[in-house]
Amino acid sequence: MTPASNYRGFMSELQPLGEGIFVVDGPVVRDMGLPFETRMTVVQLSDGSVWIASPVPVRYATLAEIGALGPVRYLVSPTPRHHWRLNEWHRLFPDAELWSSPVTAFTLRRGKLGLTGVLGAKPPDAWAADLDQTPIRGSRWFKEVAIFHHPSRTLLLEDIIQAHEHRPGHPMLNALIALGGVKADGGVPRDIRLTFRNREATRRSVDRILRWDFDKLVMAHGPVVTAGARRFVEDAFSWLDTQRA
Ligand SMILES: [Fe+2]
Repeated sequence: MTPASNYRGFMSELQPLGEGIFVVDGPVVRDMGLPFETRMTVVQLSDGSVWIASPVPVRYATLAEIGALGPVRYLVSPTPRHHWRLNEWHRLFPDAELWSSPVTAFTLRRGKLGLTGVLGAKPPDAWAADLDQTPIRGSRWFKEVAIFHHPSRTLLLEDIIQAHEHRPGHPMLNALIALGGVKADGGVPRDIRLTFRNREATRRSVDRILRWDFDKLVMAHGPVVTAGARRFVEDAFSWLDTQRA
């Protein structure tokens, strides 16, 4: 995802998804000719502070609503492609801790941010009461960290599964979506899939994710899956067992 954004006409309301969890849809951004919907996740931790994954530009009214939830203490990029999004929110909340998935050649950054930490296999004590996390292993370059919100039984995946609607009247776009393996029924984008060389490690990571008792799924690029997300995730990773990427 590139920082080139289209700020026109996006809705940025704080949308409740479950107990202590909200999503906000951001502007459409373009990457390799494809328009991407964007979304951030806002979690009100049980200590009253606010944790945000993949922050997007929002209207002032939405910013005020988020501020009313509690102090914004954690800004998190669970995927290498959203690291650059931390910059703007770091200026808004300079005291918030900055956390990122491991930085690789795939990481899209704007300058060097001073990170508090890199997301690993164990959630920091600061949010362990509400959120669990696990790295999706098997790729040297694409290192996303999956997050599970216990109170709402929601799984957060950012770039690793995407679902793009068919766009009538845009045959080239639909062809790109199909080639990328990210049609409306969801999939791991082909360019990301190709970086997963150690499939056994990836399979173990996916099995670890599937041990979480989730029912909802938030993707950064695709609709929110409000029920039956387990099957959706199983299907999106079925290529691990059945074919070469
Ligand atoms: Fe993304």
